[in-house]
Amino acid sequence: MTKTLIAPSILASDFSRLGEEVEAVDAAGADWIHLDVMDGHFVPNITFGPPLIKAIRDRTRKRFDCHLMISPADFYIAAFAEAGCDSITVHAEAGPHLDRSLQAIRNHGKKAGVAINPSTPESAIEYVLDRLDVILLMTVNPGFGGQALIPAILDKIRRVKAMIGSRPIHIEVDGGISVETAPLVAAAGAGVLVAGSSIFEGGAEGEYRARIERLRNAADGAIAKVA
Ligand code: DX5
Ligand code: ZN
Repeated sequence: MTKTLIAPSILASDFSRLGEEVEAVDAAGADWIHLDVMDGHFVPNITFGPPLIKAIRDRTRKRFDCHLMISPADFYIAAFAEAGCDSITVHAEAGPHLDRSLQAIRNHGKKAGVAINPSTPESAIEYVLDRLDVILLMTVNPGFGGQALIPAILDKIRRVKAMIGSRPIHIEVDGGISVETAPLVAAAGAGVLVAGSSIFEGGAEGEYRARIERLRNAADGAIAKVA
């Protein structure tokens, strides 16, 4: 059975010890490292950019999964590729030319992802499916960690899974993922779970491995039940 992939979001980590936090979740079994880039315009918060990503790049060999909550994104794609991101995800709502943005990401030799906000229907990505390696379904409104998952998105996960058919595209979910919600999103079809607070909460580094495993087991257990 394929295991559910867990992507800790460093947004919830201790920024004063970012390199160590990345090393700690790597050692604790993280599959991907999720990087939340916010511009204070597309979302009401500001985080970090390419120089910081470059600075932590050599702390792990795991996939740097970069979630760009910036608008417009195209001008910055080269900088994030050069900083060492392995996959770059842009928002469909960031505009204006999603198809062009996705082509630009692949032209830089990176995996291409699209994210859609909770209120955006899956039809927004119907005509770019062949340009995608990752579909990131926001399970909260982007901008902040620690929010509750919006249950209506479970249906969207099922619809997107049906829509992609046999294409090799990861379905990733982001926001409010915990041991309680992991089984719900996994049973609906999500294969990659982003988790910030539920892994980094309290900075209890000794807990990271158990927290990652609990999330993965909760998700895998739910998949086994629906299979
Ligand atoms: C929200 C970010 C998320 C966030 C998730 O805009 O895209 O990646 O870090 O945080 P939690 O897991 O705390 O909901
Ligand atoms: Zn994210």
